Amino acid sequence: MATCSIDGLEALLRELDVGVPIPTFAGSDARWKPIDIYRSYLADTASKVLGCDAGLAYEAIQSAGGKDNSDLTLVLPKLKWGNSDPKDLAKETFMKFRSTPLFQMPLPDGVHLRFVFSTLSLPRLVLSYIHDRMEYYGQGRPLIDQMIPLIDGTTKKMIIEFSSPNLATKFSSHHLRSTVLGAQIANLYETMGWDVVRLNFLGDWGKEIGLLGVGWKKFGSEEAFQENPMGHLHDIYEKINEQFKPEKETSRKARDEGHDTAEIERQGIFAERDGFSKRMEDGESEEIGFWKRVRDASIAYYTHEYERLGVKFDEFSGESQVSPESIAEVESVLKEKGIYEESDGSWIIDYSKHGPKSLGVSVLRGRTGSTSYLLRDIAAVLDRSKKYSFDKMIYVVAAEQDVHFQKVFQALRYMGHEDLAAKLEHVNFGKVQGPSKGLKEAHLLGEILDQSVKDTSDALRSDSNGHTEINDDEKSVEILGVTSLITQYCGLNKRATSYTFNSQKLGPFEGNTGPSLQLCYAKLSAKINDSNPEEAVLANIDYTYLQEDPWMDLIRAMAKYPDAVDAAIKSHEPSLVLTYLFHLAEELQYCLNDESDDKSGSKRKTSPEEPPEAILAQTVLYKYAQQVLKNGMAILGIVPIS
Ligand code: ARG
Repeated sequence: MATCSIDGLEALLRELDVGVPIPTFAGSDARWKPIDIYRSYLADTASKVLGCDAGLAYEAIQSAGGKDNSDLTLVLPKLKWGNSDPKDLAKETFMKFRSTPLFQMPLPDGVHLRFVFSTLSLPRLVLSYIHDRMEYYGQGRPLIDQMIPLIDGTTKKMIIEFSSPNLATKFSSHHLRSTVLGAQIANLYETMGWDVVRLNFLGDWGKEIGLLGVGWKKFGSEEAFQENPMGHLHDIYEKINEQFKPEKETSRKARDEGHDTAEIERQGIFAERDGFSKRMEDGESEEIGFWKRVRDASIAYYTHEYERLGVKFDEFSGESQVSPESIAEVESVLKEKGIYEESDGSWIIDYSKHGPKSLGVSVLRGRTGSTSYLLRDIAAVLDRSKKYSFDKMIYVVAAEQDVHFQKVFQALRYMGHEDLAAKLEHVNFGKVQGPSKGLKEAHLLGEILDQSVKDTSDALRSDSNGHTEINDDEKSVEILGVTSLITQYCGLNKRATSYTFNSQKLGPFEGNTGPSLQLCYAKLSAKINDSNPEEAVLANIDYTYLQEDPWMDLIRAMAKYPDAVDAAIKSHEPSLVLTYLFHLAEELQYCLNDESDDKSGSKRKTSPEEPPEAILAQTVLYKYAQQVLKNGMAILGIVPIS
């Protein structure tokens, strides 16, 4: 607990011969990010040594990224200091610095000065820091405040809407990507102390459900529904959609040739579908009864499958749940403002008239009187605002719907709800292309999960390295399959990236894969259990055994974890946490490598007889490293196997 407060941190720093108080800077938080302690002291020293503004010096510090064997970089031209040629600055200035209890002497490098953390203080500082926080390490200020109530604990409320499949159609790759990303972003906000509401906005209304209803009348079987409700509904949809295709084609052709499509759409499956949806909107008991059965079965199914993925929703709402009052409010306010107009029997917004031009024209209420996806989405914002009075609402939805969300937000602005619109954000992502053969045939979330578990267990069986640390019982294989899916399918790439999914990559324990993280975790457990766990406590260790590589590099990596979380939340990119974990795992690999599986050019100088004190220090280090790994995995939704 001690170092969770500034007083406690300063007491430790004093013991390390570092002068206190810790210099403070805007945006720096020594209680959340250990690297911020180093940044603050470096800025303070640089300002004194170079006679420049300390705030400016703080801004000029960058994380070095580790490739050049340094930790922090001071970008000299940013200091706006001195008149010399920036190229000579580094050479002129580096001599002015002395080593301190926190830093070694800097190295000049072009217009940069590179700083390396002192091996004398880093192990003790970082391990004490993690020891005092454990599962809270990496979490933002408000949660640390729960351990030591300090500043105000005002909690902000966030609604995050994600996954949101359509009940009639298949669970597509973008629903899966939204599910994983949304859950991770929700976790990130929670670690920062936000009160998060997870919402699933089911596509449970409108024409597609109408089509499913028509299909049920033709192909529905009570028996088949009892046996496998979702599978049966999906089959029905496929069949009716197949029959419907020629009609859709005729209508599309007519429209392209400039003919009126109304006559075509007044017949056949078109008419049946629209009739069904209209009767549903009018609350007719037969249609509502069918819709309710579909919705209940789907929610029961999805709740179970999401649980396998470790995802939980606070609310299954959906397009059907949008209140008639809010829909009426949207229509009447837009009418009042002269934005809503009638056109050929439909009600529309002509965005191109009211700006911005690029948004074109959209139908809010169709010819048959049915509400559109857009109208329901605008009204849903009003409902949610009344229900939750949120500070922020995020929609995790594919980039294909960028324009749709611009329309939703713009309509709210037309209505005079600028404040509300400013709280909304569409967090988008690119397409996932070409799933492997197996996954292509998987239409339901459960089938996708089953396929992933199967691919992973096949890979496990064919893995010639025989990793005995990983169990191959049913539960472990299920977790491994889910881990693979979370990492390979959704987690590796930045949101904007479109990528092709390749299930061949699901299994392997080598390289940047989910299973390799699990293996690393399991190896750590084995190491910790092998030693005497009672003795392996911080108070008993001699830090001098950790002052060399690979231990130092591991500790450096551990210190950077909260920075990775910070970057991930600021950019809504959970993949940054995963990238970080792969880096941590790589450093761990160097430490764990022993003679038996040393293939990859180990950094570790294995001495055959390490003294028990060294083993003890390493064991303690592994305990904390494992905690960091676990904290990162928790954000990503990965459950450790052992
Ligand atoms: N059900 C929609 C689809 O599958 C996604 C819903 C996104 N959320 C929203 N509020 N529109 O395309």
